[in-house]
Parts: sequence; structure tokens; C-alpha cells
Amino acid sequence: MHMLAAARGTGRLVNSSSRRCRIEVRSLQADRMDADGRQLLRLTSSATHSRSLSTAAVAPRRPSTAPTTISTNTSATSYNTSSSSASARLSQLNNHIPNKVSNISTALKYSTTATTTPDKMSAQAEHPTVLIPGPIEFDDAVLQAMSTPSESHVGMPFVHVFGDTLTQLRQLFITSSPDSQPLILSGSGTLGWDVVASNIIEPGDEVLVLHTGYFGDSFSDCLATYGAKPTQLGAPIGSRPSPQEIENALKGKKYKAVTITHTDTSTGVLSDPKEVAEVVKRVSPETLVIVDGVCSVGCEEIRFDEWGLDVVLTASQKAVGVPAGLSIMMLSGRAIETYKSRKVPPGSYYASLKNWLPIMQNYEAKKPSYFATPSPQLVRALNTSLTQILSVPLSQRFEEHKAASKKIKDAVTSFGLKQLASEERFQAHGMTAVWLPEGLTPADILPHTAKEGVVFAGGLHKQAATKYIRIGSMGVSVTNPALGHVDKAINALKTGLVAAGYQLP
Ligand SMILES: Cc1ncc(COP(=O)(O)O)c(C=O)c1O
Repeated sequence: MHMLAAARGTGRLVNSSSRRCRIEVRSLQADRMDADGRQLLRLTSSATHSRSLSTAAVAPRRPSTAPTTISTNTSATSYNTSSSSASARLSQLNNHIPNKVSNISTALKYSTTATTTPDKMSAQAEHPTVLIPGPIEFDDAVLQAMSTPSESHVGMPFVHVFGDTLTQLRQLFITSSPDSQPLILSGSGTLGWDVVASNIIEPGDEVLVLHTGYFGDSFSDCLATYGAKPTQLGAPIGSRPSPQEIENALKGKKYKAVTITHTDTSTGVLSDPKEVAEVVKRVSPETLVIVDGVCSVGCEEIRFDEWGLDVVLTASQKAVGVPAGLSIMMLSGRAIETYKSRKVPPGSYYASLKNWLPIMQNYEAKKPSYFATPSPQLVRALNTSLTQILSVPLSQRFEEHKAASKKIKDAVTSFGLKQLASEERFQAHGMTAVWLPEGLTPADILPHTAKEGVVFAGGLHKQAATKYIRIGSMGVSVTNPALGHVDKAINALKTGLVAAGYQLP
């Protein structure tokens, strides 16, 4: 484990207004230490940097040219790729990891000596390009936003950043309704399910779960854990329930909510929340529309107000482009009213809206507030990433993801392979799930793609995990073409297939 344990520097506070606090840093030295306090890495910077604490280190679309020298202890940083499967879920997830570890240990090792030069596209140490459907590659400025000294989570500089970040989320989800409520909690995407299941849904409530893969099963499990009664409406692998099937289901029973996995990350199947919401509003207008956008927020169009959505939940590590650790949500006024009229108290303490709503409202009003400690570093990283994302029109960002994904999908077709998502309209734009040639498994391909310096993911759908692989194309890998990640993915796939014995058409 590594940690940025010490940062020393000289500088002065040059401006502190109610909204912004600007610091000039004249020299900065930061040491990365291991868990026992040994120094692994020293970052030094002697240039004068001026930083606004509320929009720290924002450098949209530009390679970082920070005058940073990195020298490291070469033996200290390498992946540990061995894993043991302690449970069914774990063994399923092991497909993420190429299991011919000995073949790939070289490819998976971080290069631990790197000196950044202005012409390099990234200031990060050389590492395999992570093109799985999350976590994704991170922008330098986002990572640098986390390299901040410790600060009070109720101090005004952080309160301003947190408040601004909540407001940025309103733009990301395209909601201007004053009744909508953004939330940022420490946790992963799964915590969003717990917030829904323990606050908005009550024990005994019927919920219709539209199932397009692994994550529909898991959301169902979560709902059932809190006493709800989920009914899954499924479709064959690679497809999704039709509007007619959804209408029939809604006419057959009164549901408190319908859940949609916008992109099911296990299959790459894209659902259409707008279409589903239209059916729900026509057939059962009281039913809440809840979207799992963990693999879609930031890369697929979502119009919270216009489509009449009640909850959209996501996580930081996917198209939002921030290291894992934040559960991000938008709630409608109707969802909050539903929570407020519960007959029984929320079934969770940490996930309780009773505890979090006032905190989020206070932060956005720039008032210090505390229920449980947030992560200033992750919130700063989110603020930086959202500032980048919102610096271009969202429509442009979505088109860029469509174009990058099409390039990968076209290459897959040209290699004679098919996707799990059977029709173009079912295909997600932040990832591609590819059926492998007959007789090949992820373990036959992934060690070869790893040798090419690219990390892809194995299959995850319970019924087909050993028959396909998944390629992510989100965030900087798409919006910064100079990184060359899309071409790198295509070349690695081609090389991996050939090395595994497949004859290209
Ligand atoms: C669609 C979807 N929902 C939920 C989750 C769970 O998110 P997390 O792993 O961040 O808890 C994931 C994770 O990949 C996901 O892809």
C-alpha cells in the first residue's frame, strides 16, 4: 500500500474571498511512503503555481506539463495479481484478472522510474492502460487534485469545494428543479442501491427490476435485503425487455418503483430510460423511475428533469473519471417526498437520508456541517473532473463516446467477432462486450493483451462469463485522443486474438 504521506512547501495566501481561496505555491515537495513509512517516491516542484482551492488544477483536454520529477524505489511498486476466490461473487469477478499470471507479470509491472517531460502525454508513471469498464484511466489534473495536504472537512475552503461540486452535479444530470437533491457519499456505486432500498423503498414494497445482466441481479438482492419484493423482468443475454413487456408488467401489478440498469456493465447492454419512463408515466404514473447509471453517467445522455427520473445513482470510478470511493446520486423532489412519507424509519444508519439530506443542503449553501467524515481529496478530484467535463457541451461529450465506441465496435466486427448486445440500439457507448471465438476463453486472450500493455476485463454474466471479454472506452481515453487509447485497444485485441491462435478474416 502506498500513501502520499508528507507534503512540504512554501507559499502564501494571496486572496481569500467568501467564494475562493487562492494560494501561490513556490515550492512543493511531496513524498510517497509505503505503509511502514519508507519513502517510495518524491515529487518536487519549484515553479510558482497559483491554485484556486475551489477549482483546483483544472486543465481540460491538455496534457499535464507540470515540472515534476519522479524518482522511485524500483522494487516497491508492482501489481499483486494473485487472488483467491472466497465466494461465488469473488470467483465470478476473478474473470476480470488474467489468470496466466506468470506470463504477464512483466506487462503488469509499473515502470517505477519515470521523468515527466513536456512532450509526454501524461505525468503519470508508466503503467498498463486500463481499458476495463471501470475503473478507468484518470486525467493527471484529477490525480493531482488528490495530492493536497490534509484539511478540515468542515473548514471553509473544503466546504466551498463540496458545495460547488454538488451544484456541478445538477449540470451533469441536467436538472434545474430546485426540488432535486444531489448527494455525494463516501462509498462505491453499491451504496446508491442501499440508499434507495433503505430510504425510498419500504419493506413489503413491490419493485420491478428490468434485468439486462449481472447488475440487475445484484440490485434485486440489495432490495430484498431491506425487505422489498423485487420482480425481475428479463430478456435473453444481449437484449432488454421491450416497452410492451414493461407495459404488460406494470398493468399486472402495482409497483412502487421500476429500476433500470442504464448500461449493464456485465453485458454492455444499453437500456433506454427515456422510453421506460414514458411507459411508466402513461401506465402507472405513481411508480418511481430509478436508474442505475454507474456505467452511464458521464458517457450516455441523461436528462433528469425532462425524462421525469426520480433517482439516478452512479460511482466515481467510471465515466465521471475519479478514483473509486464516491457514491454519487441525484434524487427528485418526488423521491424525497416518498422517503419523507415512510411508515417506518430508514433501514440503515450510514445510508439514511435523515442523516444525509441536511448535510448536503448545508454544504451546497456553503455552511459547514457534519454527519460522517467525507474525503476532501476525492471530492476535490471530483470537482476537478466535473469542471473538465462541464467545460465542453455535454452533447459533445456523448458524441465523442459514441464515436470512440463505434471505432472499437467496427474493429470487432472486422475481426469477425460479435458483441453480446445483439442490436446497435442495445449497445452501450462506454464499453463493448465481445464474444470470443469458439473454444477460446478470456484466459487465452487477456495475458496477450496485457503484454501489449492493455488491461481488458473478462466476462461477468453468470451464464457466459468464460466466453467473452469487455473493453472500456470512457473518460480521458475517449476525450483525449492524443493518448491513443482507442487505437491501442484495437491493436491489443487484434494481437491477442492472433497470439491465441485465432485466424483473422
Ligand atoms: C451497472 C453497475 N451498477 C452497480 C455497480 C456497483 O458499483 P461499485 O462496484 O462501485 O459498488 C457496478 C459496478 O461495476 C455497475 O457496473
